[in-house]
Formats: sequence, structure tokens, C-alpha cells
Amino acid sequence: MELILDSAVVDEVIEISNWGVLDGVTTNPSLIRKSGGDFEETIRKIAEICPGPISAEVTSQTSTEMIREGMDLKSRLPENVIIKIPCTSEGLSATKALSESGVRVNVTLIFSLSQALLSAKAGAAYISPFLGRLDDDGKDGLSLIEDIRTVWEKQGIEDCKILAASIRSVHHVEMSAKLGAHAATIPYKIFKQLIQHKLTVSGLEKFMSDWEAVKSEGRA
Ligand code: E4P
Repeated sequence: MELILDSAVVDEVIEISNWGVLDGVTTNPSLIRKSGGDFEETIRKIAEICPGPISAEVTSQTSTEMIREGMDLKSRLPENVIIKIPCTSEGLSATKALSESGVRVNVTLIFSLSQALLSAKAGAAYISPFLGRLDDDGKDGLSLIEDIRTVWEKQGIEDCKILAASIRSVHHVEMSAKLGAHAATIPYKIFKQLIQHKLTVSGLEKFMSDWEAVKSEGRA
């Protein structure tokens, strides 16, 4: 499964990238706002740190403007940047045009199977179902991942990756993998939790104290 960091904070990308397991990064206008950095400068810095895909989101609302903005971003930003388009009818039309021009698109803000299907049909390279926001709305985000995966298998959809997004917990990441999502975009705080386990901490402490004893006995 591709592991993606859901952040526009360059220091967070550097830290997680140093673990050696980071594939890409997703950003959105809210994350850019929160980071305090300049949009293009931030995307360029992130694109130098990890292989990608790095998702940069358009802010236009009409298909024509989204296509123009997507092509413009694609021409100015590094090769590993892909274009994030919202799941609207205008967004679908833009996804179709951009993907036919060879631009890889991540369709975002997906909350239903029908939206996922339409986005794949339009040529999306990635679709981003938002688990946490569905849970917040009283639905079950993980069951959407399961449904999309089932339909992808039954319909033989192979060229559109399921990117689990709006992740709120380690459980979301683990279950997304179990249910067959191709990728997960994970907030910094949750990424840090993925490596933690109390038995690893206590186990290591014991190994280290035993090793000190071995050394004090002159056996190492
Ligand atoms: C996906 O690409 C989005 O950036 C993100 O996962 C949104 O998550 P949120 O619901 O935590 O804002």
C-alpha cells in the first residue's frame, strides 16, 4: 500500500520521509492555509523530498477553469505532482479532459460509491474517499472502502487507485490496508502513532538493561 502524508508542513514531510517509507503527500487549500507557507513554494519543496505522487488541488469551480488551472500547475510544478480535482460534475469533465491529456488526477471529496465509479470512468488515477468525514456524518467510512474495493474487483477496474483519505486513527489505516485500498493519506499525528507500541518500548528497555549487565560482567 502506498503511504502518503496528509500535510503541507515541510518539516513534517522531512521527518516522516526520513523513516524511508513515505511515498507521497496530499495537500488541500485548508492544509496550505494551516501550514502558513506559500502554495507553490511549499509544493516544490515537498516534491523534492519524496517520490510522489504529490497532490496539488485546483481552486477553480468550472470545468474550463479547472482544466486551465490543472494544465498550468502541471506545466510549472515538478513531474511528481498530480492534480487534485473535487468530485463535482464540472470536476468530472475536467478529470476526463486532463487525464486524456496525460495529466494524472486525484479526485477528492468522495463520499459515495457512485461518485467513485464516475471518477474512475472519467479517468482518475486516484480517488479519495473521505473516511473520517463520513464517520463524523454518522456513516461508516470503512464500509465505503470495502464497497469500492468489491466493485473495483467485480468490474475489473485496475487503473484507478483507491486512496483512503480523511483518516482519523491507526485503525483506519490498518483496516484500509486490510480492505484493499491501494493507498492511504495519513495526518502527521496518526503517522507517528503507526510506529508506537508499548510492548516495543518495554521490550527494548529490557534488552538494553540486560545488555548493560552483560557489559558490566565483561562479556562484551
Ligand atoms: C485528502 O486528500 C484530504 O487532504 C484529507 O484527507 C482531508 O481530511 P480531513 O477530513 O481530516 O480534513
